[in-house]
Amino acid sequence: MSKKVTKAIFPVAGLGTRFLPATKSIPKEIMTLVDRPLIQYAIDEARAAGIKEFIFVTSRGKGALEDYFDHSPVLEQELRKKGKDQLMEVLKNTNMESGAIAYMRQHKALGLGHAVWCARRLIGNEPFAVILPDDVIAAEKPCLQQMVEAHAETGGCMVAAMEVPPEKASAYGLLDVAEDQGQIVKVGGMVEKPKLEDAPSNLAVIGRYILTPKILNNLNKKHKGTGGEIQLTDAIAEEINGDEGVFGYRFNGERFDCGSKAGFLQATVAFGLARDELRTELWDYLQDLVASEKAAQ
Ligand code: G1P
Repeated sequence: MSKKVTKAIFPVAGLGTRFLPATKSIPKEIMTLVDRPLIQYAIDEARAAGIKEFIFVTSRGKGALEDYFDHSPVLEQELRKKGKDQLMEVLKNTNMESGAIAYMRQHKALGLGHAVWCARRLIGNEPFAVILPDDVIAAEKPCLQQMVEAHAETGGCMVAAMEVPPEKASAYGLLDVAEDQGQIVKVGGMVEKPKLEDAPSNLAVIGRYILTPKILNNLNKKHKGTGGEIQLTDAIAEEINGDEGVFGYRFNGERFDCGSKAGFLQATVAFGLARDELRTELWDYLQDLVASEKAAQ
């Protein structure tokens, strides 16, 4: 039985250039799906999985993220005065206990592995989670919670995994499967964004990880991988032949790539339809839209 996972790292230092000009003045992670910023989805998922300490690896210009998790006394006072209890409740979910949240700066954009390494002193000798807020996963049981439960059985390192269309595989870290046990796979190899012809499979790493502290030692070597960046995938791959091994976890749920515009729009529609107060109006609109597109063809 491995130790409990209570800390999570959220790498949020990226510039978000794919969403310019919006990201000129707001961090990508503050962009909203319906009415909640991407980062709120990630935090809620972490909380559901039992995470107690939240470590953000940030960069210049991410101040709005820090403010987001802060108390907002003026706003709270105003809502209380007006008796808006429901909104007060919504706000409550955005507040963090004092000391539960830490911000660490990544001073240079040297890759995802480097971002995780920046948080090394806050981790200590225990397994930890990494959540990439760009990957939003809609699931009955939140994805990280599924993984924490599976990890309690396997130990070692675990990455969320999903089959992607083969032609898109080279946009991901990909797994070479040593042993396929269905939901859990034992990983025999891992490679970051290979050329299509070198892809070991189309089973891709999705942005949820449970890692042992050994990964931080591996990252100490600052080995440069794909794109000249320090890759988290490479540091995990070093543990494949270690005592504890590496596992892929085929999660239950639907993943949206909110790092891309198309993925973000799809997530907006899906999360909009999932909301009782929006569903009918949005659904009617979509039906009309499809009908008029068809008529125009
Ligand atoms: C990162 C990881 C990659 C993983 C992907 C999932 O890449 O490096 O291994 O497959 O997230 O979203 P990024 O998309 O940040 O370039």
